[in-house]
Amino acid sequence: MKVYAIVLAAGKGTRMKSQKPKVVHEVLYKPMINHVVDELKALGVDETIVIVGHEAKQVEAIVDGVTFVYQNEQLGTGHAVLQAREALEGKEGMTLVLCGDAPLIRKETLQGIIQYHQEHKNQATVMSADCETTTHYGRIIKENGQVKGIVEFKDLLDCQKDITEMNTGEYCFDNRALFEALNQVTNQNAQNEYYLTDVIGIMDQQGLRVDAYKIDDFNEVGGINDRLALAEATQILRDRINREHLLNGVNIIDPQNTYIGRDVVIGAETTIEPGCILKGKTVIGENCHIGPYCEFTNVIVKDYVDIKFSVLSDSIIENGVDIGPYSRLRTNCHIMEHAHLGNFVEMKKAVFGKGSKASHLTYVGDAEVGEEVNLGCGTITSNYDGKNKSLTKIGDHAFIGCNSNLVAPVTIEKNAYIAAGSTITKDVEEDAMAIARARQVNKEGYSKVLEEARMKEFEKRNKEKKK
Ligand code: UD1
Ligand code: CA
Repeated sequence: MKVYAIVLAAGKGTRMKSQKPKVVHEVLYKPMINHVVDELKALGVDETIVIVGHEAKQVEAIVDGVTFVYQNEQLGTGHAVLQAREALEGKEGMTLVLCGDAPLIRKETLQGIIQYHQEHKNQATVMSADCETTTHYGRIIKENGQVKGIVEFKDLLDCQKDITEMNTGEYCFDNRALFEALNQVTNQNAQNEYYLTDVIGIMDQQGLRVDAYKIDDFNEVGGINDRLALAEATQILRDRINREHLLNGVNIIDPQNTYIGRDVVIGAETTIEPGCILKGKTVIGENCHIGPYCEFTNVIVKDYVDIKFSVLSDSIIENGVDIGPYSRLRTNCHIMEHAHLGNFVEMKKAVFGKGSKASHLTYVGDAEVGEEVNLGCGTITSNYDGKNKSLTKIGDHAFIGCNSNLVAPVTIEKNAYIAAGSTITKDVEEDAMAIARARQVNKEGYSKVLEEARMKEFEKRNKEKKK
């Protein structure tokens, strides 16, 4: 059977006190809306419709693989779902309705509600959970164990105020029945909104099967309405993710002080030291030692790699590489097996060959460096002339002396040797040595001459002061 999904993301999120729409705010370095949409993708739904409205462009810019539908005025959750009528009405299948502001939902839980919905032959299944009587969520109204409807917290009658089964805001519907019931929803309530929740009562009255699928973990479905809840969600997700890694054999020294994104993969026997932030599509292999204090964004790290106190993004690090402390790699760097990057080394768009070394204070940008190359302390590729970026090529086994400038475009061939302090502006052939600095001149006895001249000047000034 076809499965559709509607994600509600048109609201402003007034309580966030932000220029950005609520669903664009990040939980563990990923916008809320992407958490929800990615789980739907993992689930393999046939079509996802995201209802956008407030600052729609900002939402559209960060989500792909979905259909956007506009809700120009935010008249309530029922009105929001109704905007998908043109896209979905009359289609055979099931429709999941999810809140864009509930990012911790898991694919497994969605599979759970779909399965329950099918097994019980329901037309509507609302996901519920237990909460405190004071929690500001809608409540599931039951009679003799049968779901009769949902009442919003603000609309609860006195006799309903002790109900602790709440509406998570996540549902599975028979698609046709959903749109038929939606046509009957009105805005006669405390907030003058068209409540999606009303369809549950309407469908019950139509004699359709409505039911609740109760889950254990309230944390998974909490809607985020302010920044306090946002920070709490980050902690909850961090703990959930770290727990999974720990049980999979990753050694996290201080789980409360380690932030690993939801899409990050880490191999067994790898140790993550305190203060690390690993995000985006980062993949770390086995037996690595990462941290303390590393930030990785979209970095692929193979096995037996050691990186400390460093910031890396969009790069690939091969087996046995050793980086840091205080290195920075960005924009498509590829560091080959057993290379070594030491203190204060920056690389950008650079291939750095097998076994090569840049141990201290080096900038390598727009470069192809061969195998077993040594870049002395203070080597700089001068890749930018103010307008264009140019390439530096360094062949295998070349040796670049300390404090050299390699002014690109320039090629240093295999086994070439660059004398310390050189500014290289011309290509250097294989096996050649280049020295490009002023020749040293020693002037005999001249230090004393200078000293005497300075003394004379000093005495002259003292006399003038006394006058
Ligand atoms: C909703 C439910 C409530 C449930 C709670 C769980 C209704 C009427 N109430 O309340 O029973 O306990 O979620 O979190 O459905 N949105 C739109 N367009 C609108 C209004 C809202 O797209 O016109 C979106 C919001 O951006 C948000 C989601 O729908 O992502 C939920 O809306 P919100 O106003 O937060 O609903 P709650 O009051 O939390
Ligand atoms: Ca909400």
